[in-house]
Amino acid sequence: MVVVCPRILPGCRLSQITRLLSTKAASVNGTKVEVLGREYTGDHMTNVTPHLLSHIGRDLHLQPHHPLRHVAQRVTQHMYRQYLSPRGNPLFSVHSQLHPVVTTHQNFDSLLIPKDHVSRKKSDNFYINETHLLRAHTSAHQSELISMGFDNFLVIGDVYRRDDIDASHYPVFHQLEGVRLCTLKELYGTHQNMDAYHLFENGERTEDHQGVHSAEAARRMEAELKGCLLGLATSLFGQDTEVRWVDAYFPFTHPSWELEVQINGEWVELLGCGIMEQEILANAGVQDKIGWAFGLGLERWAMKLYGIPDIRLFWSTDSGFLSQFRFDDPATPVTYKAVSKYNPCINDISFWLPKDQQYESADFYDLVRSVGGSLVEQVNLVDSFTHPKKQLTSHCYRIVYRHMERVLTQEEVNDVHRKIEQEAASSLQVSIRCSE
Ligand code: DAH
Repeated sequence: MVVVCPRILPGCRLSQITRLLSTKAASVNGTKVEVLGREYTGDHMTNVTPHLLSHIGRDLHLQPHHPLRHVAQRVTQHMYRQYLSPRGNPLFSVHSQLHPVVTTHQNFDSLLIPKDHVSRKKSDNFYINETHLLRAHTSAHQSELISMGFDNFLVIGDVYRRDDIDASHYPVFHQLEGVRLCTLKELYGTHQNMDAYHLFENGERTEDHQGVHSAEAARRMEAELKGCLLGLATSLFGQDTEVRWVDAYFPFTHPSWELEVQINGEWVELLGCGIMEQEILANAGVQDKIGWAFGLGLERWAMKLYGIPDIRLFWSTDSGFLSQFRFDDPATPVTYKAVSKYNPCINDISFWLPKDQQYESADFYDLVRSVGGSLVEQVNLVDSFTHPKKQLTSHCYRIVYRHMERVLTQEEVNDVHRKIEQEAASSLQVSIRCSE
């Protein structure tokens, strides 16, 4: 059971909090599988496990200050800047809360993945039943969003695959998908003689373009797509990063490419992309546009960007991991430092702020750093209230102590904690209420 300090959710009784936390986002019960409020009937294809389902609803990509969210925000900001409406607003819409259960039609058929394709295998996917599965990629939402009328969109979400288990694979990870559809006018601008230009023709499918696309339209789309994604990669990984395009194959794009960047002398695949198969657009009811799409793995980007060595760390609730990403500007450069394997010691400190003197939490943080040195992993303001009669404000801070190389004793921690109290009382003029 999770025990929560009631101060964290003011206004909630402990019984309510426990109920909130114990509401499972997904579960299997006999033949019933419930996922985020939708119920499915299991069958011979069902292979989701309670452990896997426990990841649903964590929504790491939506958690404030989570490294996956920082990366998703940076990609989103890049797309916002690249594509503006005539009035200067972002053209791309962002869909980051789509339900993770999709039909086999969405995940495979709508993307022209052949019926006998290996990627459909039960051994590679988490099936809810014969007709539904946990999406294996964010591409599963392309066709649905296009039919809804979206022309420029991003899909961000958790995806599920039965894969190897090692430092860079985990059965749940996160992807970001981008789709852009263009009309003739958008692709060429307006020219005097627009009749000379066209998106479509009845030609041969070649290495460079689909039979239905004019060679020139396909070339323009390729140039725009590659320009956008190169800009994205260099804005995150640095202007001097070595990059290369590698020809690729996906059933839903033609031609297709992968973008690789060189990191520490090694070529790393960053994303897949291509010109969308026209049949996908036609099936979604779009006749007069041509599209490009890309998909990237947020964990892969974050691991390379921050030097995170193991994919399981993204699921960590340990303050030693999370506190390293506690910044508001997603472009803040950080290099991950290994968290100590030793347990943390957590002590709180509460005091009344001085009445007639300026006080800022940042001053207290500096003080904690200078007294506690590298034993302090994290400091957070966990409670603040003003006494109505006394007109005094009280702050309570939680300090997490942890040594990188050895076990800390409680006495040692108490000693430092007491010094912090004394120093705060004398140099910040606060009056200590209690500490534990
Ligand atoms: N869905 C692909 C995957 O999971 C990634 C991808 C490749 C997405 C090319 C795309 C694309 O939109 O055009 O591996």
